[in-house]
Amino acid sequence: MRIDIITVIPELLENFTQESIVGRGQKKGLVEIHVHNLRDYTTNRWRRVDDYPFGGFAGMVMQCEPIDRCISKLTGERHYDEIIFTTPDGRQFDQPMANELSLKENIIILCGHYKGIDYRVRERLITREVSIGDFVLTGGELAAAVMTDAIVRIIPGVIGDEQSALSDSFQDNLLAAPVYTRPKEYIDVNGKSWGEVPEILLSGHEAKIKEWELEQSMQRTRRLRPDLLNK
Ligand code: ADE
Repeated sequence: MRIDIITVIPELLENFTQESIVGRGQKKGLVEIHVHNLRDYTTNRWRRVDDYPFGGFAGMVMQCEPIDRCISKLTGERHYDEIIFTTPDGRQFDQPMANELSLKENIIILCGHYKGIDYRVRERLITREVSIGDFVLTGGELAAAVMTDAIVRIIPGVIGDEQSALSDSFQDNLLAAPVYTRPKEYIDVNGKSWGEVPEILLSGHEAKIKEWELEQSMQRTRRLRPDLLNK
């Protein structure tokens, strides 16, 4: 899979794409991420990519031309399955959308900025508008990073243990069961016990453990996210 991210702040994404799960996915050759500086595509001699809005509204608006030039270059080189625009008025990103996008061959993510982009870009070029939640970020870069992380980690082979991405919270509309590691009983800095790991997890009885996990998942979902049970 290939993800091209178009942004006016490439520095915000460069470390992110080289590190952690996303970096590992790239090193394993399972995903390629390319970050493009939108300013490289403007013909403006001060490298500006925005201008004042018609109608006298407040704020600046990203112009058609640099976006057109950048996306035309990319689509001239290969077919893209989706051209996504990050915006708070888009459809809410969730696990099913991450699953769906992880099956695509090539996608572009255009990071929004300023007051918005010239509406003609959205009408002409964008195939999907996506929000990561009901709040307003300064720009779409963090939204692009969130989406890229969620998409890349479920590409088969990116996470070592294939099972672990499938048992994530939300994969089946259930929150994940609690997990524990050594020691079996933790004594804190004040000498107080934080209790012991549930006995069943030490039993080695695989079927019973699976049953316990499911029961815990259902209980936590009922308590914390009852809305998921109706999906
Ligand atoms: N840009 C600004 N806020 C955003 C959000 N909530 N989701 C996606 N892109 C955004």
